[in-house]
Amino acid sequence: MKNIVILISGRGSNMQALVQAAIPGAQVAAVISNRADAAGLAWAAAQGLATASLSHRDYPSREDYDAALMALIDTYAPDLVVLAGFMRILTPAFCRHYQGRLINIHPSLLPAFTGLDTHQRALEAGCRVAGCTVHFVTPELDCGPVIVQGAVPVLDHDTAATLAERVLAVEHQVLPQAVADFVSGSLSIRGNRVYRVENTVDATAQLII
Ligand code: GRF
Repeated sequence: MKNIVILISGRGSNMQALVQAAIPGAQVAAVISNRADAAGLAWAAAQGLATASLSHRDYPSREDYDAALMALIDTYAPDLVVLAGFMRILTPAFCRHYQGRLINIHPSLLPAFTGLDTHQRALEAGCRVAGCTVHFVTPELDCGPVIVQGAVPVLDHDTAATLAERVLAVEHQVLPQAVADFVSGSLSIRGNRVYRVENTVDATAQLII
């Protein structure tokens, strides 16, 4: 059984999707937040999951906070750490410590729109396709090897909020898929590309919008 530790900062809808996916061979060992009032933490506790909060405000530096966070996470012996709306930039030491077993979900089709306000920026750039990405985390923000991406059309009357809602529904599909692929041992990383042992993607499939 692979232990998964999920980090959140707020609502936690991706964490919920992951818990509800009940991936064979995986168990959610803990849900941890940097905010004690994160709504997702209460939901996880109500499911009977182990929860913890560790406020970054209690630490003098990012390095000190990340060291304490690593110590807390490691008490759960994680095989995989999932950043599911964890709104903190992580230190290189943290990323190195969990190299190859730390993944993040980001609400854009990376490498476009790293950072914040992704949907507004996609609208302003005139994109006709938007989406989300699950990727391995490296020290450079939102830049690690891509595991899964999901795309949605950008509609003429979209606002950042309507686009975010449509992308979020896809996030809830691709995050459990990426975790299931990791847990089954079917992913390997070479350079910046992630390979699957069995490539089930239809090479003739096209998404023309
Ligand atoms: C998601 O859009 C995720 O891609 C981004 O932060 C948001 C978190 O939403 N990193 P939720 O807390 O999972 O509902």
